[in-house]
Amino acid sequence: MIKYAILGYGVVGSGVAEVMAEQREKIAALVGDEVELKYILVRHDYPGDPFADKMVTDFALIEQDPEISVVAEVIGGANAAYDYSKRALLAGKSLVSSNKELVALHGAELCTIAREKGVNYLFEGSVGGGIPILRPLTQCLAANRIDEVFGILNGTTNYILTAMDTQGQSFADALKKAQELGYAEADPTADVEGHDACRKTAILADLAFGRNMDVNAIPTQGITTLDAADLELARALGYTVKLLGRAIRTEDGCCAFVEPHLIPLSHLLASVSGVMNACVVRGSAVGEVMFYGPGAGKRPTASAVAADIVQAAQHIEHRRDTALGAPGGVLAPEAALVSRWYIRAEDDPTRLKEFTP
Ligand code: HSE
Repeated sequence: MIKYAILGYGVVGSGVAEVMAEQREKIAALVGDEVELKYILVRHDYPGDPFADKMVTDFALIEQDPEISVVAEVIGGANAAYDYSKRALLAGKSLVSSNKELVALHGAELCTIAREKGVNYLFEGSVGGGIPILRPLTQCLAANRIDEVFGILNGTTNYILTAMDTQGQSFADALKKAQELGYAEADPTADVEGHDACRKTAILADLAFGRNMDVNAIPTQGITTLDAADLELARALGYTVKLLGRAIRTEDGCCAFVEPHLIPLSHLLASVSGVMNACVVRGSAVGEVMFYGPGAGKRPTASAVAADIVQAAQHIEHRRDTALGAPGGVLAPEAALVSRWYIRAEDDPTRLKEFTP
C-alpha cells in the first residue's frame, strides 16, 4: 500500500482528498496498489468533516513517518510551504504541488533535491488549473524546439474581464464573485496585479526554454487600470481584452511578460471566457497547439494534483522528472517585440498592446 499526505485543507486540499477518494478503485488499478490518504496537515479542527480522522497539526509526524511516500503540498505561498516541501523531499518523499509561487521561486532548488534523493517532484496543477499543460509541453512535445508559449493563465482575471465585458458588472462585484467561487488567491492582489500569471509564465518559460527565469524580472501589468470604457471601446474596434502571459524564444534567451492585450474577436483566445484558461504552444514540428479548460477552482485543480499523486505513486522506484532548468535564463527586453498599441489618453491613460497572431 502507498500512503500519502496532503499539506493544507483549503479549496484545493479538500478537493484532492475528495477526488482521490472518489477514484480510489481506478487509481489502485492504475498504480497496481492501493493509494491511501494517511494525514492531512491542518491549522485548525474541522469537526464532522469526512476526513477529520486524518487531520494532524504537526508536520514532523508526516516528515518522520516512513510509511508516507508521497506528499501533496497545497498550502500556497512560499513560507511554510517552502519549509515543508524541502523537508519532505530531504526525508525521501515524492512531492507534488499546485503552488505556482513556490515552483516559480524555489522550483529549481526543489527539483535538484528531488533528483539527489531519487524522488519525484511534480507540479502539473501549478499552471492552468485542471488543464494538462506541463506534461504535454515537456513530454508529448519533447521532439520540438519550443518557440513560443502564451495564453490566458489566470482564471480570476479572465472571470472578471468577461463579467465586465459581457454583463457590465463592476470590477469589485466580479472579483467578489470570483472569490466566492474559490478562484482567487488568498490575497487576490496576486491575481489582479498579474503576479499569479507572471509566476505561471516563468514556469512555462523555464520548461519551454530550459533555463530558470528570475520571476521578479518579468515585466508584469495586471488589470486594475482597466475600466468598462476600455472594454467598450475595444469591442467597438473589433477586439476583446485578455490578460496574457507570453514567453517568446529569442536568439540568446527569451522575452517574457504579462499584460492585458487587445485580442481580435476572430481569434480563438477571444472566446475563452469566465474561469477558462487557454495556453498556446508553438513548436518547430507540431506548429501551434492550444490547451483549453478550467484554470482555477476546487475540483479542476484537484484533478491535476491527484493525477500527480498517481504519477508519483506509479514511479516510486523509477522517478519521473518535470525538469526545471538551471538558473541563468536571459530575459530579452520586451522592446524586442514590435507591437501596435491602443492608448486612451485621459487623466489616467490606458495602454493596451494588440495581440498579433
Ligand atoms: N488564482 C488562480 C487563478 C488560481 O485565478 O487562476 C489557479 O492558479
